[in-house]
Amino acid sequence: MHFQWYPGHMTKARRMMQENIKLIDLIIELVDARIPLSSRNPDIDEMGKNKARLIVLNKADLAEEKRNDEWVEFFKEKGYSAVKVNSKKGGGIKSIQSVIQEACREKTERDRRRGILNRPVRAMVAGIPNVGKSTFINTLAGKACTKTGNKPGVTKGKQWIRLNKSVELLDTPGILWPKFEDQTAALKLAFIGSIKDEILQTEELAAELIRFLEKEYAGVIGRKYSVEPAEDPYECLRRIAESRHCLVRGSELDTEKASALLLDDFRNGRLGRITLENPGDITGK
Ligand code: G4P
Repeated sequence: MHFQWYPGHMTKARRMMQENIKLIDLIIELVDARIPLSSRNPDIDEMGKNKARLIVLNKADLAEEKRNDEWVEFFKEKGYSAVKVNSKKGGGIKSIQSVIQEACREKTERDRRRGILNRPVRAMVAGIPNVGKSTFINTLAGKACTKTGNKPGVTKGKQWIRLNKSVELLDTPGILWPKFEDQTAALKLAFIGSIKDEILQTEELAAELIRFLEKEYAGVIGRKYSVEPAEDPYECLRRIAESRHCLVRGSELDTEKASALLLDDFRNGRLGRITLENPGDITGK
């Protein structure tokens, strides 16, 4: 889903989050496992202070397994609960309930000390558009409960999905705005298709992706498209166009089409499992 963000939208999203946060004990923050930092909302920590926190690395199937584990550790070290999942296929979802209990243990114990027993934990899912919030809720709750995709206005009033006797989930996810101001983050968000391609022209975006892949995943492009490596990413695009018969007017190479093809292949995991940012970049390890 593409969402055009204006200051008005951001204010509305923030207000909705602030209203809903009052009702819950736990924020389940979904991030994209390929860019766990760049897909985080800049203000969530401020909005979610005093709440239990769980970070879910979603779309873990599209990211490198080793990196997923490193990111889970990274967030745990920062004091969050963290888990990796594939909401689409259900991988990792089984463990979520126990992770939720664990994330809320402090609160449950506080309740118990005050004599409050068996009060369910109330949780909400939040994240930037397209990170997989609806898919996650659907998979967690069973198919019937919510519809995938954002359909504003479908649900009137607050509805809770009872996951089991100890956890209730708000049925509408909190939509958060992405990091547009940070140019590096915006570029990565554009790579995964989470903000509109218009941040850069398709060819420029594809060229940037090629630069990244040649540096971090050398050989991936060559193997996928049967092309020789090229120093210049635009030359690489021409080679992909040639190899995939992307042509205009019968004979000219259509690098625009080759760019769209490359981006689509990357976004859907057809280039393999690729992680665009590593905890080591931040911790220096
Ligand atoms: P949102 O509510 O946060 O906006 O996201 P939504 O659930 O609508 O999911 C956005 C896209 O991400 C969907 O793809 C969805 O299938 C996909 N997705 C969600 N979780 C995962 C995951 O763990 N792994 C993978 N590989 N994909 C995931 P789509 O192209 O919009 O729809 P469709 O082609 O899957 O029907």
